[in-house]
Amino acid sequence: ALERTLSIIKPDAVAKNVIGQIYARFEAAGLKIVAAKMKQLSRAEAEGFYAVHSARPFFKALVEFMISGPVMIQALEGENAVLKHRDLMGATNPKEAAAGTIRADFADSIDANAVHGSDAVDTAKNEIAYFFSAIEVNSRA
Ligand code: CMP
Repeated sequence: ALERTLSIIKPDAVAKNVIGQIYARFEAAGLKIVAAKMKQLSRAEAEGFYAVHSARPFFKALVEFMISGPVMIQALEGENAVLKHRDLMGATNPKEAAAGTIRADFADSIDANAVHGSDAVDTAKNEIAYFFSAIEVNSRA
């Protein structure tokens, strides 16, 4: 089915200047960028985005990392976009990420793991709405 998913290029990958290389992988896989913005997240914005993880031991480090520099946030649209994007990213821990995935190629650690992607279609709806208003998302189907 035609889906949308939320992608974040995290501060480590922005600092490595590989936004374009990551975008090229999305495009080669048939995912279209339908909204995008670069943003320095506030602490409250990062905490709100990751609220589902607020009780986890890694929460504080995750928030600190996500506000350590600007992130590139985009909504991607395409057939099977949620799973397709997760396959492109590879495993959360880059040590476990398959060769040729974004995290295998660009990530350094489970915290500095280059990218975030929605884990399901309903999560994606909420995550896209967290960062983009309806009129900022451009259907390209
Ligand atoms: P992300 O997909 O952005 O969602 C939550 C993030 O928490 C995850 O990527 C990792 O960067 C980070 N994280 C740190 N430690 C862990 C852990 N043990 N399990 C899952 N995520 C972790």
